[in-house]
Amino acid sequence: MPQTTPYVTESNLTDLAIERWSNISDPRLRQVMMAMIKHLHGFVRDVEPTPQEWFTAIDWLTRTGKMCDDKRQEFILASDVFGVSMLVDAITNRLPTGATPSTVEGPFHIPGSDTFETGANMASGAPGIACFVTGMVRDLDGKPIGGAMLDLWQTDGEGLYEAQRGKDKYMRGIYYSKPDGSYIVRTVAPIGYTIPMDGPVGDLMSKTKISHFRPAHIHFAVSAAGYKPVVTHLFQRGDQYIETDVVFGVKEPLIVDFKKKASGKAPNGETLSEPFYEVTYDFVLQKAAKAQRAA
Ligand code: BEZ
Ligand code: FE
Repeated sequence: MPQTTPYVTESNLTDLAIERWSNISDPRLRQVMMAMIKHLHGFVRDVEPTPQEWFTAIDWLTRTGKMCDDKRQEFILASDVFGVSMLVDAITNRLPTGATPSTVEGPFHIPGSDTFETGANMASGAPGIACFVTGMVRDLDGKPIGGAMLDLWQTDGEGLYEAQRGKDKYMRGIYYSKPDGSYIVRTVAPIGYTIPMDGPVGDLMSKTKISHFRPAHIHFAVSAAGYKPVVTHLFQRGDQYIETDVVFGVKEPLIVDFKKKASGKAPNGETLSEPFYEVTYDFVLQKAAKAQRAA
């Protein structure tokens, strides 16, 4: 007798669906689909949505998809606020203790920023309090890394990114560490800001008491030949949103003091007539794996 598929019952449906979706020759796709069905069925068994609730969920996903184009990616925002982006990042970047930890890239990075000399101002004309970020780029043994690229982007002192100002080449820049590993950035201090709340993610968040703010931070993508690149932020210690970051991006080693300094001589040798902030941070890179070096 040929084996036939049993008719569906509430109790056998999950096993039947997993079995059907095991019929995939690509092993990774098979693993992904079987796990997806297992967890999705588990969710439905747990929550027992009514058909109306299931339609509400599908409508939310539909609206989220419709808010995705080359300027706005509402699905990434959803992944961010559910903590999934940071979980993928954590799994991808299991770095040794002492290396600068990674954190979520976010939607505001724009490639191709202008290059600035050590100590030059990437925020001229922008509102905000002058801020100098200085330190070293080095490896896990403390050896300085010269010629490392530091690609920065951030809000201005009013909490707005280039894309939100509608400007070009605004609040971003590329610096290189000197042969002794040192770097000096001149910018303005960022402030905390809200994620975009005018889409389905915002609609959902508005039904909760969850904070929709990110604490003040400066984004960095740091890379050097022979080392694993890191995409990360530096966060301002004491920021009111530091413990409730809506995208779960804060890691303790990335919280730094923004030291307020009286007017006078700044780290880049300029004399400032207004008080300014000074931030010191050493970026520590891990050597690239052999396989990555060969690539
Ligand atoms: C950001 O830091 O730029 C960001 C990250 C995730 C969602 C929204 C903004
Ligand atoms: Fe940001």
